Amino acid sequence: MAETHRRKPGVCREVPIAVLGMGHVGLPTALGLAELGWKVMGADDAVDKVEQLKAGQATFYEPGMQDLLRKHLKSGRFRPTADVEEAIAASKVLFVCVGTPQREDGAADLSQIEALARTIARNLNGYKVIVEKSTVPAATSARIKKTIARYARLERAAKVSNGRGGPNGRRRDAGAPVRFDVASNPEFLQEGKAIDDFFHPDRIVIGVESEEAREILEEIYRPLKCPMVVTDLATAELIKHAANAFLSTKISFINMIADICEAVGADVETVAHGIGLDPRIGCSFLGAGIGFGGYCFPKDLRALIYLAEQHQVPGGILREVEEVNRRRVEVFLNKLRGALWVMQGKTIGVLGLAFKPLTDDIREAPSVRVIEALLKEGAAVRLYDPQAMSNMREVFPEEPGRVEYCPSAFEVARGAHAVLLVTEWDEFRKLDWTELRQSMEVPVLVDGRNFLDPAAMRKAGFDYFSMGRGTSQPVRAVVGRSGR
Ligand code: UGA
Repeated sequence: MAETHRRKPGVCREVPIAVLGMGHVGLPTALGLAELGWKVMGADDAVDKVEQLKAGQATFYEPGMQDLLRKHLKSGRFRPTADVEEAIAASKVLFVCVGTPQREDGAADLSQIEALARTIARNLNGYKVIVEKSTVPAATSARIKKTIARYARLERAAKVSNGRGGPNGRRRDAGAPVRFDVASNPEFLQEGKAIDDFFHPDRIVIGVESEEAREILEEIYRPLKCPMVVTDLATAELIKHAANAFLSTKISFINMIADICEAVGADVETVAHGIGLDPRIGCSFLGAGIGFGGYCFPKDLRALIYLAEQHQVPGGILREVEEVNRRRVEVFLNKLRGALWVMQGKTIGVLGLAFKPLTDDIREAPSVRVIEALLKEGAAVRLYDPQAMSNMREVFPEEPGRVEYCPSAFEVARGAHAVLLVTEWDEFRKLDWTELRQSMEVPVLVDGRNFLDPAAMRKAGFDYFSMGRGTSQPVRAVVGRSGR
């Protein structure tokens, strides 16, 4: 940031905001910003994805997203593009939403972020705020800043020695340094309710180093009435990691309690309710079951352990959270093994494949490990999910007699020796379970999400198993499932 004089802060509504990366974070963010009235360029170098968006087709399932996409393609406030450089050059505010997958050693792979920082440096044609929204380890924004500064300097030097500006007239005249700010604005959107979360956030966290960046981000989010935490870059980054790690810890904690409940004949749902009413604990994320999955919790937990241990901070508590979660699928499958004894030659129906309801995402979904184990033990599987079947077909292709995808829960149950409920889609609650049971070979039902009413399932004729629920009256009937 070589230029020091102060310019008038703020963002002009006619200058587009660039959202770089059209994945599970970028697309809902871009459409949310468009709905708030901003012009948004949604950039992604995956040409197919961009073409699909241009045609008004959402690239993954998220409630409400398809409508918003069509609305803002029509309003002209959302413009998908595969020309990332064009989007950068045209915008003053750049939201970085590219992927940060997990490396073999557990650390976050920041290569996409680094590559993007270099592209931004090459297209720095005026003051810009680069807002890191992808989940990244603390200190990543400092690295983004260094990378942009270094490559922008090299770019200038090259232009000076060539005596020319950049191609397409997009790039700035050679020689003069350009100001930029890096900010951190972690997202807390949950898949399945990302659009709603965007418009009704619990808080907005902004990590900044300059007043100008702060004013710009505050202006962008002004219509969203919620507390705003303004802090430095590393703190903002760590808030995101700590939030995901804490929520994962709550889940593993209640899962450990579920195992103790089973051992002593207590009911985990009542325990969760009883402790959750203490506002210091809170009711949410105390839903015991088969454990957490998805693209965020497992990966972010790993990355935080890596970060802690890299700085000689023992990551033991988080390692145990991970370990408890890793064991959940085995705890779940042991119930099935206990009921059926031998798996070889059995047909098992699986209801729910997505890592949670209202998404088609199967990344790190418990269902994947369940299916893997069943197939390894010689069982055949019949699978159904309202949204995630095409994604799952890529992991387990259809194989008649071994892996079959069914059009409904009833088809899954036909001739099955057991049905496993792995994802708590609402439609499973409304099934006629008595009818479903009648088509099964053996009426074993293992509920990995404590989703169904044990008394009703037993009345429907099932040998019903769930995770840590004892014999006491379930509180769900009184208080609702507030846990998620
Ligand atoms: C999570 C966070 O909740 C978001 O705030 C965050 O923005 C996001 O990660 C991210 O980092 O991008 P998400 O992964 O979409 O969101 O899903 P959650 O609703 O948090 O559920 C995660 C997993 O925990 C699911 O497998 C779910 O079934 C499981 N879970 C959740 C439980 O097992 N028990 C519970 O009580 C709650």
